[in-house]
Amino acid sequence: MPTYQLNIDGAIKSVDVPADQPLLYTLTDQLKMKGPKFGCGLAQCGSCTVIVNGNAVRSCVMPTSTVANSKIRTLDGLEKNGQLHPMQTAFVEEGAAQCGYCTNGWIMQSIALLENNPKASDDQIINGLSNVQCRCGTQIAILRAVKKARDQMAKA
Ligand code: FES
Ligand code: FES
Repeated sequence: MPTYQLNIDGAIKSVDVPADQPLLYTLTDQLKMKGPKFGCGLAQCGSCTVIVNGNAVRSCVMPTSTVANSKIRTLDGLEKNGQLHPMQTAFVEEGAAQCGYCTNGWIMQSIALLENNPKASDDQIINGLSNVQCRCGTQIAILRAVKKARDQMAKA
């Protein structure tokens, strides 16, 4: 089996996995990470989202071999020195989770969206997140949290 060096949240991790194994399985099964979640496995729901080279990607359909030379960021690495990322804080403050299974996808896709467009309008946020799913119906609180985080991140 090939060995890959993955740059995850700023640390190099070595994994022996089949080239076509989805990155999601490598993160959860080999590296025991808790952030990305298996939802649909078909790039449809967003629960497995990570940020690769600055863009939100669906790790359930991303072969591990294709990200060996990339910078991968995950929910697990957002907290720094005991401080939550502003997006995480906004989700807590706005109560933007019910079961929480989808939360990884919303947070990671929102961060990528705002890092690429810090002044995203409300409509751009709604459109940019339109392919992330929440079966609990938490979308209103989630959008409130993302807009709050946008305003906080702009001040930082
Ligand atoms: S599990 Fe990857 S998009 Fe649903
Ligand atoms: S909070 Fe349950 S699926 Fe979104």
